[in-house]
Amino acid sequence: MTQLDYGSYLQLSKLLSAQQLESAKKGTVAHDEMLFIIIHQTYELWFKQILYELDLIQSIFSGAVVDDAALGGAVHAAERIVRIEQLLVSQVDILETMTPMDFLEFRNLLMPASGFQSEQFRLIEVRMGLKREARLAFDGASFDARLTEEGRRRIAAAEAKPSLREQVDAWLSRTPFVDMGGYRFREAYQAALNAMLAQDMDVLRNHPHLSVSEKETQLASLAKSRTMLDGLLDEKHFAQLQKDGVWTFSRRALQAALFLFLYRDEPAPHSGFRMLNALMDMDEALAIWRLRHALMVSRMLGRKVGTGGSSGYNYLRATADQHRAYNDLFAIATFLIPRSALPPLPDEVRKSMRYRYEG
Ligand code: HEM
Repeated sequence: MTQLDYGSYLQLSKLLSAQQLESAKKGTVAHDEMLFIIIHQTYELWFKQILYELDLIQSIFSGAVVDDAALGGAVHAAERIVRIEQLLVSQVDILETMTPMDFLEFRNLLMPASGFQSEQFRLIEVRMGLKREARLAFDGASFDARLTEEGRRRIAAAEAKPSLREQVDAWLSRTPFVDMGGYRFREAYQAALNAMLAQDMDVLRNHPHLSVSEKETQLASLAKSRTMLDGLLDEKHFAQLQKDGVWTFSRRALQAALFLFLYRDEPAPHSGFRMLNALMDMDEALAIWRLRHALMVSRMLGRKVGTGGSSGYNYLRATADQHRAYNDLFAIATFLIPRSALPPLPDEVRKSMRYRYEG
């Protein structure tokens, strides 16, 4: 029996012979093409790892109940994804050691291949929860138009399954503490929040440095927050706000998320809070990558179109803002109040969230 060794275990002969320079095939090696290929290959390897961690997280959230012990595993995997994404952002620094002129030595040989054809990147987006209808129009074509037919089929199959966002919505909607016994979280919280919004309005009206029109703009923005809050508390309002795309999670899930953010110091909500925080970190790190990639593209290409034919920078930059699956969780910060103003929980709710040791 042959002994396992480093090279055969990692299949290095396959891996290290997978860098075939187009420029070499044409007779003149463009030195930086090796870096360009290796960077893209490492991205794809990390995308594979992200999808692998998503398999674990999504299997934990797939059942009718999310096991408390397993939730810690999901948080851990989500935090690993965040670290990988941060690495993906910093890898751009290495690619930027290639100057636009070095890139021009081989760029035309790549047409019409483009990062736009990365199937794994599309799968990450879809499985995290980015919806087809929420995507920016890409030069009139569908986001998967440049993939192979099998690639499009695999994307459609992923779209047909619940995304992590939908699974998290269902999990949040089952959170028990929001309505427990006679306790109604939204009623208890409404008074505290009304007081905070009224105070914010007072601060604005009496602000010594703001002009009348600045005050009006800010007051209008607070009034909008008020409407968003009314939606959270009142079903009829909410349906309209959801139709307008102001909220995309369900109302029950948003109330639970607000509860977890507010009462995160209690033991039971704490791991739920950590999961939400990790999802926000994941969303934010991906947005930072999109922005970093867009800036790198503008530096490499100026105003040229991409090898995939897009308007390049403008499209890519806009995705950093718009291709977000967890915006609702960020918007909840509008409705957080200081700990000192937090309405105390009734004893029976508080006790149900504590650990008890029985000896
Ligand atoms: C010199 C380096 C690079 C340039 C000039 C560049 C340029 C572009 C451009 C112009 C687009 C828009 C589509 C098109 O017209 O082709 C695009 C999309 C994309 N690129 Fe790059 N790119 C570079 C490096 C990378 C790297 C290292 C990755 C890592 C995998 C990557 C991944 C992607 C992805 C995933 C998209 C689709 C983004 C979306 O639709 O939201 N690119 N790139």
